[in-house]
Amino acid sequence: GNWKMNGRQANNEALLSALKPAVAGFDTIDVAVCPPFPYLSQTASQLADSNITFGAQNLSAQQDGAYTGEVSSGMLVDLKVRWVLVGHSERRSLYGETDEIVAAKTQVALDAGLIPCIGETLEERKTGDTEVVLARQLDAVLPVIERHPASAFVLAYEPVWAIGTGLTATPEQAQAVHAFLRDRLASSGYAAAPSVRILYGGSVKAANAPELFSQPDVDGGLVGGASLVANEFVGIAKAAVDSLGA
Ligand code: PGA
Repeated sequence: GNWKMNGRQANNEALLSALKPAVAGFDTIDVAVCPPFPYLSQTASQLADSNITFGAQNLSAQQDGAYTGEVSSGMLVDLKVRWVLVGHSERRSLYGETDEIVAAKTQVALDAGLIPCIGETLEERKTGDTEVVLARQLDAVLPVIERHPASAFVLAYEPVWAIGTGLTATPEQAQAVHAFLRDRLASSGYAAAPSVRILYGGSVKAANAPELFSQPDVDGGLVGGASLVANEFVGIAKAAVDSLGA
């Protein structure tokens, strides 16, 4: 669940209190929330006795130093953060993160033992452009991820036109892109390609999650809006248990 820049202490507490018991038995999947930085420590203490893990939405490509406003990997490790979103399309489009920055952040996260969830963004949906954009973005992080086991990172495919719009890729569209990404990993010589988790993101909801997650190359969801609503997020997690957790 990517909360983006949403939530305040009181509703975070209510949301986490509702989620904890509802997903308590979901031990065959990873359920994680990514709150804004200021609430990581609140989240850590509230989830201390929970199977829900948590992540950050960004990290600095630098270590400690004169980088005003940035948050380093070491700080996230101090807060017991497990995951970190890297290269989300909003970071790319609103904050100018290039493929090079995404690769550098991925490296820093892996070095710190954080599990980067690397955003693959489809910017253009004209014929032919899909694979060019995705191949470019994947190739930029390949040299960084290929030296690590598949358990060390996650890829997320999020078509820009589907993020926060209520428009979802059809299960067939998502499957085709996920298969493309997995094939490209394999053909680049990454032997663990079959085990890489590739999440779909973009208006995932409890109602569309079962069909999306039943696709062979869709290994879970990166959920924005619906992760702020306890029932929705629990419904999505339940769909993941049913399709993926066997
Ligand atoms: P959405 O966002 O689920 O609200 O479409 C997904 C994301 O940006 O991670």
